[in-house]
Amino acid sequence: MREIALHILDIVQNSIVANATRIEVIITEESDADKLTVVIRDNGCGMSKEFLEKVIDPFTTKRTTRKVGLGIPLYKMAAENTGGSFDIQSEEGKGTVVTAVFGYSHIDRQPLGDIAGTMLGLFTSYEEVDFLFRHKVNEKKFEVDTTQLKNVLGDVSFQVPEVYMWLSEYLKEGEEELNQ
Ligand SMILES: Nc1ncnc2c1ncn2[C@@H]1O[C@H](COP(=O)(O)OP(=O)(O)OP(=O)(O)O)[C@@H](O)[C@H]1O
Ligand SMILES: [Mg+2]
Repeated sequence: MREIALHILDIVQNSIVANATRIEVIITEESDADKLTVVIRDNGCGMSKEFLEKVIDPFTTKRTTRKVGLGIPLYKMAAENTGGSFDIQSEEGKGTVVTAVFGYSHIDRQPLGDIAGTMLGLFTSYEEVDFLFRHKVNEKKFEVDTTQLKNVLGDVSFQVPEVYMWLSEYLKEGEEELNQ
């Protein structure tokens, strides 16, 4: 994988498979501390202690279609390759928190990639899930809470073309402003 956004997509998909109804994606870029931190928190089924211990081993997975689950090991490796760290906290029946810390200026640090497009895809593909997306770049912050959007929209779907276009622009502009 060449982009952190693709790892985020993979980890959020794990949360969706785990039947999460609320998923938070929190990205914090701190140039002073030379860190990029990604926290993904869900209220899905969680994992037992025993399973969690083995989950970073690529030969551990509950998938039936394929024997090897690589999402977590690849993400862990991408973070650790930059002198960062990786941690998963999980509790059965409560949820899971996956935290990856990347060395911000490390030569092997993958670019964040198209996070606006990734979040747009998630918001619109999994409308029944409530997402909180928060992205901080030093002192700047951009945040989208889909529960608030749903309150305003009522029964109108994110897939209605006008809403979809608005959301797409909103995410793109919010992200662009962070990097100005
Ligand atoms: N947020 C989560 N909540 C509950 N279980 C999880 C969560 N994330 C991962 N798991 C469990 O850990 C396993 C390994 O996850 P991982 O992403 O590494 O592989 P995968 O999803 O099985 O396959 P791949 O990501 O390669 O398509 C999953 O199959 C699932 O059983
Ligand atoms: Mg996965």
